[in-house]
Amino acid sequence: MFKRKKITAISELNNNLIVPKHIAIIMDGNGRWAKQRGLPRTAGHAAGGESFINTVDACNSLRVKYLTVFAFSTENWKRSEDEIKTLVELMHKYIANYVPKLMELNISLRLLGDYKAFDAVTVTSLEKSIDTLRNNTGMTLCIALNYGGKADICYAVNNLIQSGKRVITEKDITENLYTVGIPDPELVIRTSGEERLSNFLLWQTAYSELYFSTVYWPDFDKKELLTAIESYSKRNRRFGGA
Ligand code: IPE
Ligand code: IPE
Ligand code: MG
Repeated sequence: MFKRKKITAISELNNNLIVPKHIAIIMDGNGRWAKQRGLPRTAGHAAGGESFINTVDACNSLRVKYLTVFAFSTENWKRSEDEIKTLVELMHKYIANYVPKLMELNISLRLLGDYKAFDAVTVTSLEKSIDTLRNNTGMTLCIALNYGGKADICYAVNNLIQSGKRVITEKDITENLYTVGIPDPELVIRTSGEERLSNFLLWQTAYSELYFSTVYWPDFDKKELLTAIESYSKRNRRFGGA
């Protein structure tokens, strides 16, 4: 019933590894990584940027079709103005600088969330990157920016109300979320040892397998990714069936 493609062609993988079509990652622990080293939190975010790029590369080489990363939540506005400013600057610079490589890898870009709440320079830069990568047909990289699972559902419901709907189905909601057209993630990874969703993809993770890694995000690497995929490969997904 549920197709789970076995990867056999990639020599670095053992034959029983099932690579999810969609992996979603809560990139957490930048601040603690920095604190551990006596560095400012912003240094942790810069190191996290490198991890982000390496993870995109790793997922692409494993032929993951969709990679979603949680970069900024609707609750992250509670942080200091300085930290938000650095985070936002880092994000759009990392993305803009990475566009030629994404182009080379045939990766397209989607943003999930109300990214237009950021400053005009950031919004323009993000939209330019999306536009450049628009026709790519390989992996889709989704970046959740000013994203909240609850806001996502409200956004969908409001769209439906505006279109005149009186009775709303699950399919209606699915088709009006920021993730429209993207299959639900089979695997959600969170780093840093925290074991919660923190308002990430609430609707879309109804049946996702969850994997919690104890490493801080800047230390997350391909080996950790493969460990998560190995764990996922051993899960017995029943979707409520017997
Ligand atoms: C994740 O690391 C980055 C964002 C939330 C944007 P944190 O900044 O949350 O790091 P910790 O959890 O405080 O260590
Ligand atoms: C979740 O991490 C948000 C992102 C990774 C962007 P947080 O660090 O904001 O989550 P809490 O506050 O520990 O739940
Ligand atoms: Mg955190």
